[in-house]
Amino acid sequence: MAIDKIDIWNADEEPRLSAVLSECWALLVDGANDPKHDLYTPALATGDTTHGPMLRTVVLRHVDRETRQLGFYTDLRSRKIGEIQADPRVGLLFLSHSDDTQIRVQAEARIHCGDAVAEEAWAGIPLPQRRHYMVSGPPGLPWAWPTSGLPGDLENRAPSEEESLAGKLNFAVVICTVKQMDWLYLTPYGHRRAVFAWDDEGRLQTSWLVP
Ligand SMILES: Cc1cc2nc3c(=O)[nH]c(=O)nc-3n(C[C@H](O)[C@H](O)[C@H](O)COP(=O)(O)O)c2cc1C
Repeated sequence: MAIDKIDIWNADEEPRLSAVLSECWALLVDGANDPKHDLYTPALATGDTTHGPMLRTVVLRHVDRETRQLGFYTDLRSRKIGEIQADPRVGLLFLSHSDDTQIRVQAEARIHCGDAVAEEAWAGIPLPQRRHYMVSGPPGLPWAWPTSGLPGDLENRAPSEEESLAGKLNFAVVICTVKQMDWLYLTPYGHRRAVFAWDDEGRLQTSWLVP
């Protein structure tokens, strides 16, 4: 769904905070639905007690405004899983050049594997893509030569449904419940920034900020 960009400068009035929040969610929904959209691939931040902040790109797979949830898929053996288990507070950074918009999110992550959420997501993954979860060692495992990590001839063909079950064991959905969203809108005439924060009871506090 195409959405209109907020046009602060031609509007009679500046947008209300509620309109900005709706714009944020609409952009995120668009991002998750379009692999070419800038918001399709946010950066995910976790904390690591040894190395400090860790960042990596993930694909935005799920957006639900009602429950304030953003979701991505990952390999259960990947490093980020241990980091989220140790501290479920995560950051997500979205930048849309075409919308002149940055959205920064603080969220609490929950890992789903072997449950109904993971089951439903797995069923929607085409067989060729299931290979992402079929690499023979944990992502990041040192190897003596350049490798895809895929077993046998799976580099050249999609796995059968039965073969792909090996990947299902490594598959996880991470659902992040948004606690805070920081919106920054860039214009040549002066930027705009706002924050939206939800407390543990789901009560929303909003404010404009100096950009
Ligand atoms: C465009 C792009 C999309 C990616 N999408 C995902 C993803 O959805 N989930 C994921 O776990 N890793 C994804 N990755 C790989 C991660 O960035 C990262 O290299 C990998 O998950 C290992 O991260 P970790 O060692 O911090 O756990 C993606 C990488 C790129 C470049």
